Amino acid sequence: MATPTLEKVEAESAASPYITVTFRIRRFNPEVSDTAEWQDFQIEIDPKERVLDGLHKIKWDLDGTLTFRRSCAHGICGSDAMRINGKNRLACKTLIKDINPEKPITIEAIKGLTVMKDLVVDMEPFFQAYRDVMPFLVTKGNEPTRERRQSPEDRERFDDTTKCILCAACTSSCPVFWNDGQYFGPAAIVNAHRFIFDSRDEAGEQRLEILNDKDGVWRCRTTFNCTDACPRGIEVTKAIQEVKRALITRRF
Ligand code: SF4
Ligand code: FES
Repeated sequence: MATPTLEKVEAESAASPYITVTFRIRRFNPEVSDTAEWQDFQIEIDPKERVLDGLHKIKWDLDGTLTFRRSCAHGICGSDAMRINGKNRLACKTLIKDINPEKPITIEAIKGLTVMKDLVVDMEPFFQAYRDVMPFLVTKGNEPTRERRQSPEDRERFDDTTKCILCAACTSSCPVFWNDGQYFGPAAIVNAHRFIFDSRDEAGEQRLEILNDKDGVWRCRTTFNCTDACPRGIEVTKAIQEVKRALITRRF
């Protein structure tokens, strides 16, 4: 095999897309310490890759104890929401080049839920609020003999809120939820909205009463953090406003 010339090696290295990036990760291991600490990792990465790719490089090549959730790696499962440079994002949808890789990239667990280890939080309170709003179609009477028909206009009323992937980026960016984890939170309201405004559903009143609770929809202070955080582009604050309006008018 021909030996590559010095010029060729230099040209290839000049064309390399890789840059050195510092990931500054907030680490927490309750088996080792009661407090969390920041730890820096330097990695070589193509800036067109995603934060999730960087986390994989660290876990697979540098420190196998780094703990985080991910599954689909394509913005569908909702399992890798984290605070990246102080903002809630999905690691699998965040490109390195879009978050100023010249400075250390800070990565920490989402706020408002108990950190179990590193970037993994206890999602149970989040999912309990989701279960509490009955996120399923409720109908009375006998089972129909054909599909339940719906006009395109009626389907459109709740189209936006069908896109939720339950990542918790909205709920864990909400200052009301940070201060009081009893608040149902934006994600539960979004998923209630999805059924309240479904013309085929018959439990809208019941869901509205659940959200009329002291920990329900009236706790929202319309800060828009939730809308800004949603990786699916759902108009979360608007959905919350629509539920509030439905509670007042009882029209939905
Ligand atoms: S509304 Fe958006 S941010 Fe909130 S859980 Fe659903 S997908 Fe995630
Ligand atoms: S890993 Fe599934 S949404 Fe990011």
